[in-house]
Amino acid sequence: MKTVPTTPFDDQKPGTSGLRKQVTKFQQPGYLENFVQSIFDSVPELSGGTLVVGGDGRFFNDRAIQTILSMAAANGVKKALVGQAGFLSTPAASCVIRKYGAAGGFILSASHNPGGPSGDFGIKFNGQNGGPVVESVTDKIYARSLEIDAYKISDNPPVNLDTLGTHQINGMRIEIINSVTDYANLMEGLFDFDAIRNMFQSGFEICFDAMHAITGPYAKEIFVNRLGAPSESLMNAVPLPDFGGGHPDPGPTYAKDLFSKMFNGDMPDFGACSDGDGDRNIVLGKQVYVSPSDSLAILTANAHLVKAYAKGISGVARSMPTSRAADRVAEKLGVECFETPTGWKFFGNLLDAERITLCGEESAGAGSDHVREKDGLWAILMWLNIVAVSGKSVEDILHGHWQEYGRNYYSRHDYEGVEKSKAEAVMDRVAHQLDTLPGQTFKGETVLKADSFAYTDPIDGSVSKNQGMRVEFESGSRFVLRLSGTGTVGATLRLYLENYTPPTGDLHADVQTSLSSLRDIADEIANIKSILGRSEPSVIS
Ligand code: G1P
Ligand code: ZN
Repeated sequence: MKTVPTTPFDDQKPGTSGLRKQVTKFQQPGYLENFVQSIFDSVPELSGGTLVVGGDGRFFNDRAIQTILSMAAANGVKKALVGQAGFLSTPAASCVIRKYGAAGGFILSASHNPGGPSGDFGIKFNGQNGGPVVESVTDKIYARSLEIDAYKISDNPPVNLDTLGTHQINGMRIEIINSVTDYANLMEGLFDFDAIRNMFQSGFEICFDAMHAITGPYAKEIFVNRLGAPSESLMNAVPLPDFGGGHPDPGPTYAKDLFSKMFNGDMPDFGACSDGDGDRNIVLGKQVYVSPSDSLAILTANAHLVKAYAKGISGVARSMPTSRAADRVAEKLGVECFETPTGWKFFGNLLDAERITLCGEESAGAGSDHVREKDGLWAILMWLNIVAVSGKSVEDILHGHWQEYGRNYYSRHDYEGVEKSKAEAVMDRVAHQLDTLPGQTFKGETVLKADSFAYTDPIDGSVSKNQGMRVEFESGSRFVLRLSGTGTVGATLRLYLENYTPPTGDLHADVQTSLSSLRDIADEIANIKSILGRSEPSVIS
């Protein structure tokens, strides 16, 4: 064991429990070590406790795990549970932390960002509830990272991660565990696997695209081995360090083959994909794509059909920019609905306090109280379970939902890689108008209220300010502007547009057309195009 001198580290973003950067940064001596030591120094329970380690299999995953294990041993961790081959999806890591009472876990992933030597790498730390640690802990980690002057590491030879078994380094026990079993067992306990199996047996066809990322082995065990789907139901099911050169972002741009299968020719009944680390999902039916905001609302409305939620749900939460489709369902069910800042960590306290059962974000994440992360395969199984017991197709469920609740037309426009000062200028421009906007009319829409979203956690009272600008109109339309916290190049400005059509209106209009007037109003107020010098967003979802 040795103590290695280092210099303070100013790359950690305050308010986050993770670090996502180019692989080349992580390869710099001491870089990963500084971040990991800042966590060991800020979370004393790790010493003498159990630590979970695993990642999405991207390039540098195995190297990072060896470093973390050597540092864990030197920092007094008693036991480390490591997914075989270094694999653990984000929700599976959350499941393992909770199941084995671990003090926390390191999850190695940069979500959907490209992998490989010239791609990105990431690391995040989750606490003992299995979720991203709360801000009081991230603040400590950040403060520590600014003053750190040494890290501790043992000089053991590399551990064989590929074979199940146990090892010992510096008095720390290491168990290489099956990456899939605990998670698959959890899913089997939540859902009616018999009903889904029968549906598959009677010819219902699915297509799941793992995009050469972590969900391949999980999908194989769950869909093929346990539910009896033919193995041809899976696409790109072998995890690769560079994701086969792809970009495991669940959506039409990167899951092109899946989308084309679901929109042309002899379509399967059900399509789905997940992202790099398995926490996000997209569900499709024949020639339909379910928007994540609608998916959250539909899962909320139909949760009672699913074994684990048959008694009803206690409440639902969505991130602020997510469409308000779920709010309508909560109102009808008579359960609480929370609007939280962007980021999964804000759901943790509500889930722990049993104030909510389900939660989700517009960025294709949904989850429940079964773990403390969003969970891609969970959401897909929720859908399959609902389809199996209702006997309705994805298309019918989606359209039936709009007919009952009306439709929240919704879209996110991302301006990526813009200069930080310009992105901030857009935000400032709106900030300066917050007091004067209410009452003003733009293209026939009168502003009802405008604010900078601040959130007071109902459980611990902590306050998070500046979580995005909201401008809401009397018609119920609104737009939201915020700066991304996850981009790795320059700044990303996100514009979220939403309007509402009641069941009696046109429920099948083109989304962008329906939102175009609101988009112009947002531009008039925020001056996005001219400040950024961009006529179009980089990505529309
Ligand atoms: C993005 C998503 C957000 C999600 C986060 C982490 O954050 O918008 O919903 O929680 O990634 O996966 P952003 O880049 O918008 O800060
Ligand atoms: Zn992810």
